[in-house]
Amino acid sequence: MIKAGVVGWPIEQSKSPIIHNYWLDKYNINGSYKKISLSPENFKLGIKRLINDGYAGLNITVPHKEMALEISSNPTERAKKIGAANTLIFKKGKIYADNTDGIGFLSNLTQLAPDWKADLGPAVILGAGGASRSIVYSLLNEGAPKVILTNRTYERAKKLANIFGEKVLVINWKNINKHISGVNTLVNTTTLGMVGSSNLEIDLSTLSSNTLVTDIVYNPLKTPLLEDANRIGCKTVDGLGMLLHQAVPGFKGWFGVEPKVDSALRDRVLLEL
Ligand code: ATR
Repeated sequence: MIKAGVVGWPIEQSKSPIIHNYWLDKYNINGSYKKISLSPENFKLGIKRLINDGYAGLNITVPHKEMALEISSNPTERAKKIGAANTLIFKKGKIYADNTDGIGFLSNLTQLAPDWKADLGPAVILGAGGASRSIVYSLLNEGAPKVILTNRTYERAKKLANIFGEKVLVINWKNINKHISGVNTLVNTTTLGMVGSSNLEIDLSTLSSNTLVTDIVYNPLKTPLLEDANRIGCKTVDGLGMLLHQAVPGFKGWFGVEPKVDSALRDRVLLEL
């Protein structure tokens, strides 16, 4: 039996087992995928034990994504640039590491908004945490001519922008409304709009119907931001698909089948939100 799992601290909230177990069932694969709790102090030793135990690989979540990159012998270029890994594959004594959040983000848009292209115009990204970093990377890699980045804590946005160079322009959080007119893409990577958080205060009236608005928050599925954007006629894509699509490369690497993100999988995960 092929073994894989997701490591985090805490790990109870992880939806990854639902996704991978759905695919294991669907493709009739003799494999397992479990939640594994490892504290930061036990992370390195814990991973060694899992490798010795025959694990094919792991997903890595908060707070271990940076450490996962550090212990890797063979990280991808994008994991290095992003500075964090969420997918490890163990093969012949090597630890391959990748960061698939950005591909998850792009695959979700490709599936649900096929006419959208990153290179059609500038993007505005709200937030400068880990998710923002992989999304900035992906949008630039797909040819976005400019990324306008803003964050409550200005310095954090500035640091992120410095990694990616002159195509990333940092603006003050209070000035968002002045910079979104006619942009091609608008992405919320902050926790605002999530169940239990306050809402994002933003005036979308200068967006055009060609603007794609997307949120990485998926609980609720239709965030107030997406509802506002819908009302004024923008294209919108919810964040659940990013979670589903980021899981594809890991599953393929461990179990040997490239799984499809289908509507039954979405429904399955929605049941657990
Ligand atoms: P992730 O890895 O999912 O991106 P994170 O690194 O914790 O998570 O980042 C959370 C993002 O939400 C950050 O951009 C954070 O802004 P700060 O860098 O200023 O903390 C943003 N965020 C969280 N609460 C917020 C709030 N009340 N108002 C504005 N931004 C908020």
